[in-house]
Amino acid sequence: MSSTSPVLLILGSGPRIGSHVARAFAAKGYKVALASRKVKEADNTADQINIPSDLSDPNSVVNAFSKVKELIGTPSVVVYNAGAVTSNDAKDPLSLPVADFTRDFTINTTSAFVAAQQAVLSFKELPDSAARTFIYTGNITNEIPLAPLLDLGVGKSATAHIIQSAAAAYKDKGYKFYYGDERKADGSAAFMDIDGEAHGKLYVELAEGKEQGPWQQTFVKGVGYKQFPHA
Ligand SMILES: NC(=O)c1ccc[n+]([C@@H]2O[C@H](COP(=O)([O-])OP(=O)(O)OC[C@H]3O[C@@H](n4cnc5c(N)ncnc54)[C@H](OP(=O)(O)O)[C@@H]3O)[C@@H](O)[C@H]2O)c1
Repeated sequence: MSSTSPVLLILGSGPRIGSHVARAFAAKGYKVALASRKVKEADNTADQINIPSDLSDPNSVVNAFSKVKELIGTPSVVVYNAGAVTSNDAKDPLSLPVADFTRDFTINTTSAFVAAQQAVLSFKELPDSAARTFIYTGNITNEIPLAPLLDLGVGKSATAHIIQSAAAAYKDKGYKFYYGDERKADGSAAFMDIDGEAHGKLYVELAEGKEQGPWQQTFVKGVGYKQFPHA
């Protein structure tokens, strides 16, 4: 099933964001690979493959890249969309069990780091004309702590640092790295009001952009990228 179509890999794809991002790229002619725990290989088609993966194991990321290359080709766009949180006592955040902290950190950061590593290896195989874009779905917690969501904020903050560093380091090679963060028009967190289509639209624009833009892509539905004062 090798292909000359560009390839998108979404790690952690679900109904609220991942499916819309997949649809937006498919409409641009991309073949799509979805990796999550519940997807089934039996549902593979010529244009969309499914790679059952549990991102609490960073090795699953390496496996997903091998699989997508074998079945539909080297991904030129990689979206890391999985997120994990274990809510804690807002007045006693350090009571969070270390096992929960470690598992969630692996999903929010360590596996995202491995995905960015694997993306760079993939981008090296591709021509300069390919999109060569890595996007991590974040939220406002890299800027502002939310009392009951300590481990989410730790993971998003750490990965924001990785994205900021990679955006600067690989700019001259033409590889782009972004931290996507949907906000409301007033700059507050989108949280339950997130819009999958708005993510799809922005992520396609970032992939189609010729040069690295602001690594921290705060954006608003119907507006697109919008810079806000630090929360
Ligand atoms: N800007 C904001 O305010 C805002 C608001 C909400 C969410 N977000 C961010 O958006 C991202 C996705 O949110 P969503 O859940 O609503 O989107 P989604 O696209 O509907 O779902 C993401 C999918 O990730 C998969 N996933 C979770 N843990 C996984 C694991 N250990 N291994 C493999 N796959 C895993 C799940 O699928 P399976 O069950 O099949 O594994 C889940 O359905 C998160 O990173 C979240 O932090 C941001």
